[in-house]
Amino acid sequence: MIYIKNLSEHVDKEVTLKGWVYNYRSSGSLVFIEMRDGSGITQCVVAKDDVSEEAWEAATSLKQESSLSVTGTVKADDRSIGGHEIHVSNVEVYQVADNYPITPKDHGVEFLMNNRHLWLRSQRQWAAMRVRNEIIFAIHTFFQGRGFVQMDSPIFTGNAAEGSTTLFETDYFEEKAYLAQTGQLYGEAMAMAHGLIYTFGPTFRAEKSKTRRHLTEFWMIEPEMAYYDLEMNMDLAEDMIKAIVSQVLEKCKNELEILERDFSALEKVAEKPFERMTYTEAVDILTSDETADMLDQMAESRRQENLDLEKEEQEIKKEHGSAKKWRKAQIDQRIKDISARVAQIEEDLRNIPKWKESARNFEWGNDFGGSDETVLMMQFDVPLIVTHWPAEIKAFYMKRDETNKLALGMDILASEGYGEIVGGSQREDDLEVMEERIAEEGLDKEVFEWYLDLRRFGSVPHSGYGLGLERTVAWLCGLSHVRETIPFPRMMGRLKP
Ligand code: 4AD
Ligand code: MG
Repeated sequence: MIYIKNLSEHVDKEVTLKGWVYNYRSSGSLVFIEMRDGSGITQCVVAKDDVSEEAWEAATSLKQESSLSVTGTVKADDRSIGGHEIHVSNVEVYQVADNYPITPKDHGVEFLMNNRHLWLRSQRQWAAMRVRNEIIFAIHTFFQGRGFVQMDSPIFTGNAAEGSTTLFETDYFEEKAYLAQTGQLYGEAMAMAHGLIYTFGPTFRAEKSKTRRHLTEFWMIEPEMAYYDLEMNMDLAEDMIKAIVSQVLEKCKNELEILERDFSALEKVAEKPFERMTYTEAVDILTSDETADMLDQMAESRRQENLDLEKEEQEIKKEHGSAKKWRKAQIDQRIKDISARVAQIEEDLRNIPKWKESARNFEWGNDFGGSDETVLMMQFDVPLIVTHWPAEIKAFYMKRDETNKLALGMDILASEGYGEIVGGSQREDDLEVMEERIAEEGLDKEVFEWYLDLRRFGSVPHSGYGLGLERTVAWLCGLSHVRETIPFPRMMGRLKP
């Protein structure tokens, strides 16, 4: 089989491609098929005079998403999508699709989500799934290259680990089972057997809020390392993120272009050291006058931008009446872009006062909300690692500092306002302290006996973290919502298709 992504190896030769009609246009004795085959898109030109009557009939019967095979000569053509064009000598149809529901015009999100099984074929969705694939590959490459052993942790579990409010419960014969919120506790056991391990699997949380960052089923990568302290944990996480970003930049140029992703923002992440600070320092920034001023300035510059766009829109609308056809199309596109940007600005202008209020009144001891993370991250162009959290808001298994008030946890907030992508910590390794924690949290000690064994038999300092795959995909692709980062997202109110 020859695939579209390899066409440059076949210039001026005849090839046969098998795929689907992405876009279709005919004018008199010519048919233009934008064909996709899963690897890319290319334009196929069918001239009535060049093909048999049967092939011409086949070509003119086609509609969007019909399946077909095309034979023709590959011509290099810079103006053409993908840089090639096929001069067609034969067309065979597998199936003619009728009334494909997702047309090139705009559709609402609900409609697209209901048609997710078809929406996956669209170019942006295609690109996002390719980036997801590359991220997965990069993660395995990174850990395997460093001697980590991949482990599969169970999905049916007998205990909560990340709080009981987001547990999915299910019948397990005569018992109750819970879908795993994390593989970490099992990862810790495996790390005591192998030293360096990582899990890569689905995790489940009954998140009852609808946000752009939460799924009920998401994939998490959880490395766990014996003899690692918090510092080593942070270094590893930073190296991993840099490796992922570098590999995506190298291998997914085309996909990132389709997604209109700003490359330079990602290049900084790959090259510059991450910011690091304690929770207390982060709170100081959040509640500072400088942050309040920054938000005021931001609102001011948004208002100015809004005025400028309004002016521009009025001017090009005036020009529209007498413009040539090509220019009209250009103006229409620009008007569309302007209204998208204006909608964004209006949303920002509604949000900024709320962000300011929330940042100003933030109290030490609380967890950062989505907007606090956004405000904090406006000040940095690389990810930020926040350490030393109030112990009360972190999980029972985290080791604490000398004061016993702060947890040796670390969260990594992605740049460009994407929020928390990593949560991790050094683990409590003392048996008695861990027993106390379990009691304090009101957890059933019996189900944790196996976990306590890890502190009874050769306990060592150890650390680990969890990277959320979907949030990472959203960030690297520049997508505003995690629903587009996984083939079939599961969220509150979304179980089908
Ligand atoms: O911070 P979390 O809850 O940490 C843990 O689960 C630890 N057991 C990890 C460890 O130390 N081994 O979750 C880790 C990451 C978050 O930073 C976020 O990226 C992602 O998992 N995440 C979610 N992603 C999508 N939807 C949700 N509902 C998520 N909840 C967490
Ligand atoms: Mg977290």
